[in-house]
Amino acid sequence: MARAQKSRLFTLLLLLFLVCALLTVLAGPGHSYPPRQAVIYTNPVQPTEESVKTGEDIFLNYCAGCHGSRADGRGEQALNLSPKPQNLRNAPFVSYLSDHRIYTSIAGGVRGTSMPAFDLLIAAEKRWHVINYIRSLTADDRLNIPNSIARQQVAEDLKNPVPPAEESIASGRKLYMNYCANCHGPDADGAGVIAVNLSPVPRNLVVISSWGENPFIDYFSDARMYDSITNGVPGTSMLPWIGVFSDRQRWDIINYLRTQAGKRIEKIDFPVE
Ligand code: HEC
Ligand code: HEC
Repeated sequence: MARAQKSRLFTLLLLLFLVCALLTVLAGPGHSYPPRQAVIYTNPVQPTEESVKTGEDIFLNYCAGCHGSRADGRGEQALNLSPKPQNLRNAPFVSYLSDHRIYTSIAGGVRGTSMPAFDLLIAAEKRWHVINYIRSLTADDRLNIPNSIARQQVAEDLKNPVPPAEESIASGRKLYMNYCANCHGPDADGAGVIAVNLSPVPRNLVVISSWGENPFIDYFSDARMYDSITNGVPGTSMLPWIGVFSDRQRWDIINYLRTQAGKRIEKIDFPVE
């Protein structure tokens, strides 16, 4: 090949290369993000004693400042954080979290909270050791520390100190309709809109049952009503309302409900085949 021919070929190749490079740049990155959640992480590390011990060391180093050295959510920094670090000894909460969920929360943090991402600090395998440690904390029921909500001791013979005046009943009705009716129903017959998803179902508080039984509220003392509204019924969806309502407001609701007792008799719609 002649010299001139060679250099023309070289120029041509160079041009071709530049065009390719330009096209690559123009096509640009960012069009092919992997779909979110493409990978489901499962724990490849056996929860041996050694793994749990390694996990505990990592936990004490990186996590205890917030989650506490007992992992109960009461670390030194917890006081200043909102939302609070989770109590990782609360068995129902921890067993609700899949391995994948805990893994991604450790690696990526929990956006919008102070829970930081540890992907650069804690290598992948070590994250599984921490997870084995966390799971070991609730493996035995005796190690479970449920979340505690303040409880108010209610004396069995507590009497309603608020007279059932019109004003109290009106206030109770308003609170009931706003906060209780979704579950217990606007008529307090237990048939609220979300009752279908609850087990046990919300109680029929005031309606005479189809078999003529007096309403629930007629049988129960002020103390029992007040206790259930204040502290909830553990293990059911009946929530505690302590801290939500003042003492006075809780009695207003009871005054209102007592005015509704027996006003209606339950109708039963027999299913038609
Ligand atoms: C700076 C404080 C802080 C540190 C350090 C910290 N966490 Fe957290 N963590 C939080 C907070 C706050 C939440 C609660 C977020 C929420 O309300 O959903 C949380 C939530 C969690 C959860 C529940 C995540 C979920 O998916 O709901 C797990 C598990 C957890 N942390 C584990 C750890 C582990 C393991 C470490 C150490 C490697 C750690 N955390 C370090 C503050 C912290
Ligand atoms: C998320 C649903 C839900 C909400 C909201 C709710 N309740 Fe309940 N409630 C229940 C369920 C479920 C039960 C039945 C528990 C059981 O079977 O013992 C119940 C039971 C009760 C009982 C009877 C408890 C006992 O001593 O046996 C009272 C009284 C009561 N609720 C009042 C209220 C009042 C007042 C409100 C509003 C301030 C309210 N509830 C809000 C679900 C709810």
